[in-house]
Amino acid sequence: MTTSNRRYHITTFGCQMNKADSERMAGILEDMGFEWSEDPNQANVILYNTCTIRDNAEQKVYSYLGRQAKRKHSEPDLTLVVAGCVAQQEGESLLRRVPELDLVMGPQHANRLKDLLQQVFDGNQVVATEPVHIMEDITKPRRDSKVTAWVNVIYGCNERCTYCVVPGVRGVEQSRTPEAIRLEMEQLGHQGYKEVTLLGQNIDAYGRDLPGTTPEGRHLHTLTDLLYYVHDIPGIERIRFATSHPRYFTERLIKACAELPKVCEHFHIPFQSGDNEVLKRMSRGYTHEKYRRIIDKIREYMPDASISADAIVGFPGETEEQFENTLKLVEDIGFDLLNTAAYSPRPGTPAAVWDEQLSEEVKSDRLQRLNHLVAIKAAERSQRYMGRIEEVLVEDQNPKDTTQVMGRTGGNRLTFFSGDINDLKGQLVKVKITEVRAFSLTGTPVKVQEALLV
Ligand code: SAH
Ligand code: SF4
Ligand code: F3S
Repeated sequence: MTTSNRRYHITTFGCQMNKADSERMAGILEDMGFEWSEDPNQANVILYNTCTIRDNAEQKVYSYLGRQAKRKHSEPDLTLVVAGCVAQQEGESLLRRVPELDLVMGPQHANRLKDLLQQVFDGNQVVATEPVHIMEDITKPRRDSKVTAWVNVIYGCNERCTYCVVPGVRGVEQSRTPEAIRLEMEQLGHQGYKEVTLLGQNIDAYGRDLPGTTPEGRHLHTLTDLLYYVHDIPGIERIRFATSHPRYFTERLIKACAELPKVCEHFHIPFQSGDNEVLKRMSRGYTHEKYRRIIDKIREYMPDASISADAIVGFPGETEEQFENTLKLVEDIGFDLLNTAAYSPRPGTPAAVWDEQLSEEVKSDRLQRLNHLVAIKAAERSQRYMGRIEEVLVEDQNPKDTTQVMGRTGGNRLTFFSGDINDLKGQLVKVKITEVRAFSLTGTPVKVQEALLV
């Protein structure tokens, strides 16, 4: 390849892990001398970082890929890469389906992109899906934001929820050392980043694969200990973490969040179903009563904490009554945000082959009813912000109104206010909330003296 045709494009599907992986892979490509191209049609290396959590996520990839595969017939130098969870799930068979592909690489191989591409440039078609020990990355990620950053703390998942592909595609849990995490955060603080989100599919499992126990027999390294260990990093003003699993969520963690000022009072704890029988068949390992106790505990320590979650409707065999238990949980708890999904049977997961699969009509009807309730409850939750002064970390211009900037409150509500992004990007601004909507707020910045009186 000559330098004139060294442009790359990455399209990312799926969750925050994939976004973080894409940023690292972009860093590797830039290190190799490639330049970012917004338009995939102008790029010589196109990478799709894929998601297979639900069937519609997977189908999207094939339609994107089909278009670029055609292009390859007239531009044989084009390099086509499928990374991420579809790559891991489909492996070799992706090559049979799309023979134009050059590289199929699972998520555990993200940090090896340079080596793998080298093999492609040497003339090979490469499949990298074998389980590996994830190496510490030495390349600087090309991060999308200059203000907020993802930091992986644990890869993989050891749970076996009966609907879920993640353990199959992301492999077993692998925690990074607290030292490596702290170092990455220190560098971020130094570079001017203000907010870090610690990432793991089951972040409460952090450290259970690392050596060492305390005299009381606890793991030496837990998420709670990690928060204490990283909370004083200069420059980093806010720390978030996701995703929490109700089965492993502890009061110690709640206390740490209440105690550590930089840790945001926002909890993302998926419950999936409000019905004990369904939870059992999902192999989630908790009851709705236990889930409610966790939320009560959080609210006891932090009455204003934001709570978000994920839920699935139409799990195989879910009765109308069982679905109503999910509605009831949503009604009772009042989530600030809830990601909802209709159950999608996934290859290789136990629930996919069970009898009693529900029809698409029933699933979509339940999804609509749940979403309707979610919007009502979120609007109710937003009301508490009216007239309040909130600290907003400014991330960007409002794309729909360039006289405004946008950012998030500590509780993760998207907030807009008038201002110039060039002055405000990365600033924590005190904003008086003047308008509330279900999932966003509008306000006006308050003068320093006014803010001091609060
Ligand atoms: N680790 C997180 C979730 C990861 S997947 C947890 O344990 O909660 C993100 C969300 O996708 C899940 O919370 C679930 O709500 C949804 N999801 C996963 N598998 C699904 C499936 N087969 N059908 C529909 N939604 C699914
Ligand atoms: Fe999937 Fe369950 Fe692991 Fe979450 S905890 S990633 S839902 S298997
Ligand atoms: Fe999708 Fe893989 Fe994340 S399946 S949700 S990108 S872990």
